[in-house]
Amino acid sequence: MTCFIGIDLGTSAAKVLLVDERQTVRAAAEVKLATRHPAPLASEQDCDDWWRAVEDAIGRIAAEAPEAMAEVAAIGLSGQMHATVLLDAADRPLRPAMLWNDGRAHAEADELKHLGPELAAELGVPALAGFTAPKLLWLSRHEPELFARTRSLLLPKDYIRLHLTGERATDPSDAAGTWLLDQPRRTWSARAVAAIGLDPALLPRLVEGSDPSGIVRPEIARRFGLRPGVIVAGGGGDTMVGGVGIGAVEDARAFVGLSTSAQIFVAANAHRPAPERLVHAFCHAIPGRWCQMAALLNGASVLAAVAHLTGDAPLPDLLAEVEAGFSGPSRLLVLPYLSGERTPHDDPYARGVVFGLTGATTRADLVQAALEGVAFSLADGRDALAVGGTFVASAGVIGGGARSRFWTQMIANVLNMPLRRFAGGERGPAFGAARLARLSLGGDASPDVLAEPPVTETIEPDASLADAYRPRFEAFRRLYRALRPEFAEAAR
Ligand code: XUL
Repeated sequence: MTCFIGIDLGTSAAKVLLVDERQTVRAAAEVKLATRHPAPLASEQDCDDWWRAVEDAIGRIAAEAPEAMAEVAAIGLSGQMHATVLLDAADRPLRPAMLWNDGRAHAEADELKHLGPELAAELGVPALAGFTAPKLLWLSRHEPELFARTRSLLLPKDYIRLHLTGERATDPSDAAGTWLLDQPRRTWSARAVAAIGLDPALLPRLVEGSDPSGIVRPEIARRFGLRPGVIVAGGGGDTMVGGVGIGAVEDARAFVGLSTSAQIFVAANAHRPAPERLVHAFCHAIPGRWCQMAALLNGASVLAAVAHLTGDAPLPDLLAEVEAGFSGPSRLLVLPYLSGERTPHDDPYARGVVFGLTGATTRADLVQAALEGVAFSLADGRDALAVGGTFVASAGVIGGGARSRFWTQMIANVLNMPLRRFAGGERGPAFGAARLARLSLGGDASPDVLAEPPVTETIEPDASLADAYRPRFEAFRRLYRALRPEFAEAAR
């Protein structure tokens, strides 16, 4: 039976799935990745760590399912978006990548905002600190000699493609997050490229997410027991490919993504910019499709950070502890902005806050308030979409956080909206990447390739808790507004 590989180069781990043509997962592997914060606002990863992690994960699935491996016809790619991968003339990384949650280029982003609302609409959103373009401008100013040695630029998943195939290419959904893409035309924006003084020859060619971008190199194929001629599909940015994985492709299909970052994502049949509230209007990973998203920098990472601070108890134990003692909204408020925030604040300086500690506060109180803080920031995102005219009435939920029924119920209560959980919803973008691999073969892909997976449960909001959360959400918003100037001050 023909098989496909989906690779998702996430922030916390590289995940690889081997999926057959019935979309059954035959093998899976995950290899953790470390992030470094070498300076205030900095967030970096080593490009070679990415390839090592992916190699390791592919090696594991090859060992687990060698027969299926020999039936693989195509590989799809998904990856964390917005990073800077600078390569020299020998295709070697010149420095660690500055990630999506690296806030150092805030002054450059503000400068690019002055280019005006028309360009922001074409590029999908005003320039924000974590996007590639402002970071490239920052690098050209802070590390000019190194920047001058750059011969090509890629995004994280494209560095994996380079290793697999030798090809330098990206796709419109990932390019969307560079702030260099003309979203309606799905081509590089000459105006944006000129605005940051970039040589357009450094940019990779664009291939649609479901089109072939190259062939796996013979030595890699031999090493992992792949047959010759395996196609590598264009792939896409992790949020969009997560959408492909659950069939959020047709207009108005929505999901809540709960991985290291978090999103409310809505698929669209056209480019619909709504830049005022910092909704991101980007290309989808399927040709002729776009999307809108409220992009939040702090999702399951907040739970992980609180777990770490309180003694590294396993997450399922912590969640069970909170659930056992749950009697309604917490008296604590947590602002979850560990890495600043994009939608709706555009605030690289924002940081996490715990408000209301007493001598009686327990670990469970803190974890509950952290879960609520992420839920409130999703509500902020939902409202930002609504201000732009996109009303989300129900959504799927995907990502590692979706494993927790309790957290999903809490988010349904805070958003006052039903949420659908899927069989394998936590598989996320790697599954979508395997679907793009299938589509890259062309021919008549079965309609199931882009179908919504079986819904295991629709979680309805609890009306009394939805009411109880409303004033807490208002308090959460007031707390952020009150602290916004303090965050900027503290970063001086
Ligand atoms: C989307 C975003 C994240 C990253 C990291 O705008 O920043 O989804 O791609 O996962």
